Amino acid sequence: MKDADFYPIIFKRKSIRKYDLTPLDDDTLENIKDHIASLKSLYNDIEVDFKIISQNDVNSRMMKKAPHYIAAFSEIKEKYTKEGYKTNIGFILQQMDLFFSANGLGSCWQGIPKPHKEVLKSSDLEFIILMAFGNPKETLHRNNILEFKRKPLHKICKISDSSFDEILEAARLAPSATNSQPWFFTENTENNNVINVHSFRPNIMRAIMLKKYIPIDMGIALYHLKVGAEHFGKVVEIVFDENAKDNTPNGYNYVISLKMD
Ligand SMILES: Cc1cc2nc3c(=O)[nH]c(=O)nc-3n(C[C@H](O)[C@H](O)[C@H](O)COP(=O)(O)O)c2cc1C
Repeated sequence: MKDADFYPIIFKRKSIRKYDLTPLDDDTLENIKDHIASLKSLYNDIEVDFKIISQNDVNSRMMKKAPHYIAAFSEIKEKYTKEGYKTNIGFILQQMDLFFSANGLGSCWQGIPKPHKEVLKSSDLEFIILMAFGNPKETLHRNNILEFKRKPLHKICKISDSSFDEILEAARLAPSATNSQPWFFTENTENNNVINVHSFRPNIMRAIMLKKYIPIDMGIALYHLKVGAEHFGKVVEIVFDENAKDNTPNGYNYVISLKMD
């Protein structure tokens, strides 16, 4: 199984909801476990844990089942933003979504289904979210970028330097809960090698549904942004910039910045 440049995968990945329910073989599951152990955190000082569980460990109600799920757990810790621990989980687990897609397996973030009590009790950390995975029973990849339902670039960024477009495109195509695409990217007036990342503040009605997931979505988009920058040869550092925080557009919250050299 390979963990190469995920940039081309971003342009064809999709959420898979129909699975062959036959469990994956032991070697493949071992490979996946090893890969989980190698994932990169956004915030190294937040403790996380990932468990591979089976369809019988999940309360999926109306949702279609998958043969396996990754259950993500985290220490609840404020990091820059109140729910930075969720952004960390989004950043880490999106590496698995792209890894599965690159290796012929399907996956889908699952905000609604929950693991059974025994799974919840098996970790000292807080349960955050599930990701379903397995052999797909539908086409794994999109054939054309037009198959993505996403906002156009000009609606999600205010950056005059068009040389960043191909990097921003990676973030534009990121998956998000209910496809809300809560991100907005701005330039930094003091350093033109920086992209500032912001998340929208939903109104009360939309907040009921989205609030829980927005910090996770932001971690996912941030990981896509990093993949984009590295694909174009940049060395990336993720930084919190007090100045960018004070210059956040109306209706948005500042999350973090991507510094590229
Ligand atoms: C945090 C998060 C939670 C999600 N929860 C669910 C879910 O409970 N059920 C589901 O079918 N899809 C879920 N999705 C998948 C999104 O609906 C999907 O990513 C989005 O519609 C974009 O489609 P795509 O991933 O095929 O590009 C979730 C995605 C994210 C990022």
